[in-house]
Amino acid sequence: MSEQSIALVTGANKGIGYEIAAGLGGLGWRVGVGARDAERRESAVEKLRAAGVDAFGVPLDVTDDASVADAARLVDERAGRLDALVNNAAVTGGMPQDPTRADPSVVRTAVETNVIGVIRVTNAMLPLLRLSASPRIVNMSSTVGSLTRQTSSADLAVIGPLSVAYAPSKTFLNAVTIQYAKELRDTPILINAACPGFVATDLNGFRGVRTPEQGAAIAIRLATLPDGGPTGAFFDDAGVVPW
Ligand SMILES: NC(=O)c1ccc[n+]([C@@H]2O[C@H](COP(=O)([O-])OP(=O)(O)OC[C@H]3O[C@@H](n4cnc5c(N)ncnc54)[C@H](OP(=O)(O)O)[C@@H]3O)[C@@H](O)[C@H]2O)c1
Repeated sequence: MSEQSIALVTGANKGIGYEIAAGLGGLGWRVGVGARDAERRESAVEKLRAAGVDAFGVPLDVTDDASVADAARLVDERAGRLDALVNNAAVTGGMPQDPTRADPSVVRTAVETNVIGVIRVTNAMLPLLRLSASPRIVNMSSTVGSLTRQTSSADLAVIGPLSVAYAPSKTFLNAVTIQYAKELRDTPILINAACPGFVATDLNGFRGVRTPEQGAAIAIRLATLPDGGPTGAFFDDAGVVPW
């Protein structure tokens, strides 16, 4: 087995995903840059390589079965296994999302990408993860998906805008993360949810207060957890986030 650790990051062409790829690359990892758009993918791969990262492009639309199956084949050919999968790709589905005026297609888009996309990619990559001695899965969630925080905080940066699609899609993702952890509890696979904080990216019109590099830190930490580390939990930089 090669010494170099191998990761796949979905939605790695920009924002927090790009910085997760850069951060893991900086630790010496080989990184598959999952991205659906060829031009954006290649420009991210070029930029990462120029920074010294051992990066390779992985065409990947998380909503498309064939694309995800092709991506698993490509990672197998290029790397032969996976040590970490970071399910980072997500969409808001479109705003506004006031529940009483909801467009069902907005909800469907958010769930299709942020939840079903994660299940689709995870299951396709599991055979490659099972070849690793210390496999890790990180699901990029958000504190807006924390029911506890949504109902107990007066902090608008935590509560976020009214959101009948995006925020519940992250609650759904958290619940899915727990189910995976339960099924995989007797394996070396550790799977956790992460919140990057409120980060200035396209997702929020760059209104966030943290940099993408700061947002990437928690995912990098969870992708590099030591054996015996936590699984089935939800973390941000400050520690455990309540469900
Ligand atoms: N920014 C924040 O404050 C914040 C807070 C909490 C959690 N998060 C989470 O952090 C993660 C990264 O968000 P970000 O802020 O970096 O957002 P971003 O800049 O909008 O990046 C999202 C990434 O996901 C990709 N993507 C979307 N749909 C896809 C699909 N169907 N297939 C493949 N890739 C797809 C995008 O690709 P394209 O370029 O092709 O669109 C892009 O690379 C997300 O899971 C988000 O929910 C962000």
